Amino acid sequence: MRDEFVDPGQADPDEEAVEAGLRPSSLDEFVGQPELKEHLQVVLGAARKRGQAVDHLLFAGPPGLGKTTLAGIVATEMAVALHVTSGPALERAGDLAAILTKLEPHDVLFVDEIHRLSRVVEEILYPAMEDFQLDIVVGKGPAASSIRLTLPPFTLVGATTRTGMITGPLRDRFGLVARLDYYGTDDLQAIVVRAAGILRVQIDIEGAWEIARRSRGTPRIANRLLRRVRDFSEMRVDGVIDATVAREGLALFGVDDLGLDKVDRAILGVLCEQFRGRPVGLSTLAISIGEQPETVEDMYEPFLIQRGMIARTPRGRVAMPAAFEHLGLAAPRPDEGGSRSLFD
Ligand SMILES: Nc1ncnc2c1ncn2[C@@H]1O[C@H](COP(=O)(O)OP(=O)(O)O)[C@@H](O)[C@H]1O
Ligand SMILES: [Mg+2]
Repeated sequence: MRDEFVDPGQADPDEEAVEAGLRPSSLDEFVGQPELKEHLQVVLGAARKRGQAVDHLLFAGPPGLGKTTLAGIVATEMAVALHVTSGPALERAGDLAAILTKLEPHDVLFVDEIHRLSRVVEEILYPAMEDFQLDIVVGKGPAASSIRLTLPPFTLVGATTRTGMITGPLRDRFGLVARLDYYGTDDLQAIVVRAAGILRVQIDIEGAWEIARRSRGTPRIANRLLRRVRDFSEMRVDGVIDATVAREGLALFGVDDLGLDKVDRAILGVLCEQFRGRPVGLSTLAISIGEQPETVEDMYEPFLIQRGMIARTPRGRVAMPAAFEHLGLAAPRPDEGGSRSLFD
């Protein structure tokens, strides 16, 4: 069974509504990522000064770090409309044409999961991004002809969890490619305090810290854990969330001291116990824990790698000493073929 509430991926419809209410709408309210914020301030400020549309922007990084939020902020800061779609939703050329022809000058078109655009759609996007030209083919067979439409200047904001999967020609057409990094605990604490204010949840700074440090560097998880701890605290007489309430609430929901959930621990369990630190292919790993390979790769693995618990090697994923330690297991001796396989 998976714990939906700690899954950092796309929010479910109910959660979407809550998330929407928690999304910062200005750069000032956006916590952390100081370098990225500064870059955006310059890019938006310059566009405003010139009276032009903002350059196309690409936000890359793991789920839940604020890519969708930033797309909204760009539109709000520029006082233009935001149009939202996604790579998988744009199946045919016509799907993209329908959206592009609705744009007003300087509008923001947000394409989520842009690495999943089909080839045909991507090719129509190139001239649209570069010259604001849209070529539409009308009719079929020998009678087919193509008409060229001029689009108003607009800003394409793309989001991707996989920079490696963006083709060179597409990446080159963005004026700014920004990578979002995992957040530090102090930033996440500020995010929890901010969300608690909006949700009218009483929490003290120690309580916010306990939630923040188990949020796997991810604002979406921080907000989600806050809501679970709120549920837990509402069952108590005193409604204020302090460190103890936060700790007990999170333990109840299976979130451990590092913020790892059941799926994370299952991944570590397979690598450490079943395979004793030997390399394991992604698909084998995914099957062993009953998840899709993409889910493991996009949502779980990056944080475990960042925490030094697992490593990617040419022969597969391997558990690092920190993983054994976290599970309270002894790391395999070199003659067991565990750690040695990392280097041969
Ligand atoms: N820098 C931030 N400051 C405050 N809240 C944030 C920040 N980044 C993300 N969030 C919150 O986290 C949630 C997920 O962010 P989102 O933009 O949907 O992530 P992504 O699109 O990268 O998956 C949103 O509800 C938003 O409120
Ligand atoms: Mg998003």
